[in-house]
Amino acid sequence: MKIMLKSKQPSKRIFSGIQPTGNLHIGNYLGAIKNWIKLQEEDDCIYSIVDLHAMTVPNNLLDIKNSTLEVAAAVIASGIDPKKSILFNQSNVPQHTELAWIFNCIARIGWLNRMTQFKEKAGKKKDNATVGLFSYPVLMAADILLYKATHVPVGEDQKQHLELTRDIASSFNTTFNKTLDKDFFHLPEPIILGPAKRIMSLRDGKSKMSKSDTSDGSRINLMDNKDQIYQKIKRAKTDQHPIPDNINDLDDRPEALNLFNIYASFSNKSVKEILQQFSGKGFAQFKESLSDLIINDISPITKEMKHLMNNKDEIIKILIDGSNKAQEIANEVLIDIKKIIGINFKD
Ligand code: AMP
Ligand code: TRP
Repeated sequence: MKIMLKSKQPSKRIFSGIQPTGNLHIGNYLGAIKNWIKLQEEDDCIYSIVDLHAMTVPNNLLDIKNSTLEVAAAVIASGIDPKKSILFNQSNVPQHTELAWIFNCIARIGWLNRMTQFKEKAGKKKDNATVGLFSYPVLMAADILLYKATHVPVGEDQKQHLELTRDIASSFNTTFNKTLDKDFFHLPEPIILGPAKRIMSLRDGKSKMSKSDTSDGSRINLMDNKDQIYQKIKRAKTDQHPIPDNINDLDDRPEALNLFNIYASFSNKSVKEILQQFSGKGFAQFKESLSDLIINDISPITKEMKHLMNNKDEIIKILIDGSNKAQEIANEVLIDIKKIIGINFKD
């Protein structure tokens, strides 16, 4: 029997997600949100506050509602326009968890065992991690494929999860392409842009700037005020050498390289140009200029975030409208998937 599909494959569709886990920092802003904003000008974009992913770490449950609204406020304040993009919170579209179950029955334990993010997050007490944390990348695959997304803007840390998404999509395609005479899923590609692929901690140039770092001085939060930004940049780790004129001389200087990458992202200049501007000078002058740049970009966002957080109903309305639009797309794709598998007799 021939299967009639309801859903269409868009020629280009962007999907990305961000976890509502508080402490949004300039790594999230430069590595993800800033790219989201660029993309919404040209493309069909769907962005999600992934509250179900945040739940995989039980501590995050303590403040999940407020964190979801805060991250939504940050995304809107940074420039995501709900008229141009679909913005919604993941749990409002139940199709995500339904597809995740189906993908749980496709993904292999061996594939998940390779995921470095799980190893990092679970740490030494692996048995104590939730089952949700282990299958986190399967839910992420469901997020992306539920909309037949073609491109996924993320920071470099998510590349491995994207590869797993492609493995799940290919496995589904190979299992069912006889039924359909063609592949159902297009294999999505990551978009990893700019010098901010991986912003490092201000305290240690070898570890990623992270929401969960116990040292607040390791990151610049989007809610930090001007003084905090000046202080954190002033105290950011560097070394005794002067600023070089050649980028190759930064090879063994991860902290310095990180600060130049941050400067490059905020100024839209290349690291080469920045080195020309500051070479031979000490870090004090460079750091002052860097703080000014960050403050110039971040302060209006912080102000708008505070305004939105005082109008939570406005944020909730945007998320509900977005969820309704997302659900229309998700529903058609999920009905198709269930038909293809043969587990849906109703639709
Ligand atoms: P998360 O905070 O883990 O939900 O990440 C949200 C988005 O920010 C993802 O696209 C990450 O890849 C990106 N991201 C998180 N930390 C960094 C970082 N230190 N540098 C660049 N991108 C990051
Ligand atoms: N795992 C991503 C992160 O930690 C967040 C995320 C969840 C995501 N679902 C997604 C990113 C789908 C891109 C696409 O950053």
